[in-house]
Amino acid sequence: MALSTETVNIRGIDTTTPDTTLEYSPEVAERVDHIYEKMRSVVPEIEWPVFAPEIDAILRLKAERNAVILAHNYQTPEIFHGVADIVGDSLALARRAAETDAPIIVQAGVHFMAETSKLLNPEKTVLIPDLAAGCSLAESITPADVRRLREAYPDAPVVTYVNTAAAVKAESDICCTSGNAVRIVESLGADRVIFIPDEYLGKYVATQTDVQIITWKGHCEVHERFTPQELIDYRRSYDDLRIIAHPECPPEVLAEADFVGSTSQMIGFVREEHPDRVLMVTECSMSDNVAAEAPQTEFVRPCNLCPHMKRITLTGIRKSLETLGPEVTVDPAVADAARRSVERMLEVQ
Ligand code: 13P
Ligand code: SF4
Repeated sequence: MALSTETVNIRGIDTTTPDTTLEYSPEVAERVDHIYEKMRSVVPEIEWPVFAPEIDAILRLKAERNAVILAHNYQTPEIFHGVADIVGDSLALARRAAETDAPIIVQAGVHFMAETSKLLNPEKTVLIPDLAAGCSLAESITPADVRRLREAYPDAPVVTYVNTAAAVKAESDICCTSGNAVRIVESLGADRVIFIPDEYLGKYVATQTDVQIITWKGHCEVHERFTPQELIDYRRSYDDLRIIAHPECPPEVLAEADFVGSTSQMIGFVREEHPDRVLMVTECSMSDNVAAEAPQTEFVRPCNLCPHMKRITLTGIRKSLETLGPEVTVDPAVADAARRSVERMLEVQ
């Protein structure tokens, strides 16, 4: 899918509604300039005067509201390093959402992540700066599709990737993330499982287990764009290149990788192995976030952005905290069953 400038804001600046009351004053500079050091290597200095007053306002509002900001690894550096309280992959964010005491959660991520936070915190206010921050995987399957799959394979439990709507989770036996999918599948003790909706993650799991995996045809619109040929070409250009990939990529792409893992597992690879050169085959902002803390590593990158993740901006986060909206709610008719699927996942170590 072509990315339009309307939907994608690489640097998190909401150009449609500039707020003229926020300015980069000496007082703002004194309060937040130290934060810039965390992102200096990936955020050009010229952009800081735009981000600084937003970050200052968000930090003040966060304290006033007693709110916590959960940010996915794909958020832009000024969110990830500037205002987030908790960062991580989908599994870490779900776990931390279950643990938080804060009465207000702002989800800097996509809608299914905010829904998961709400399922685990039904009494709390869960905000997402843009309700339209969706996911091509979540869009790929409906509850009726799951019921039809169950009819076709009545002996097979349904393992559902968290990248789905609550109504789909409600039709499932258990959820999984890219970080625990193999463990979750094997925890069921079944000969075969229905694995929805990510076909490529399902195929990757099938290479790691003897359990038979029945897949669905959902794909991530970001990861399906990578091709094996581009990885082969990059490897030819840099003979010391380590290629690490997310399991939402097609199998031919994963075959070219040195390591496959969730976003946090990919970050762990860079932290532990200290490669001289790395190509992270995943959403592009994550390389910025890791590069900011790994100056010894050169990041080679084809830049595939997730247009949904990029709907979340500093301005949007500030407005969410100001207005306490938009709020994420879950249909009570599906909430209990969906929650059970997520909680079963969290119970598996
Ligand atoms: P993880 O961060 O759980 O690996 O998932 C990647 C992703 O695409 C989330 O939308
Ligand atoms: Fe969904 Fe892919 Fe975007 Fe993740 S990167 S939110 S899987 S579209």
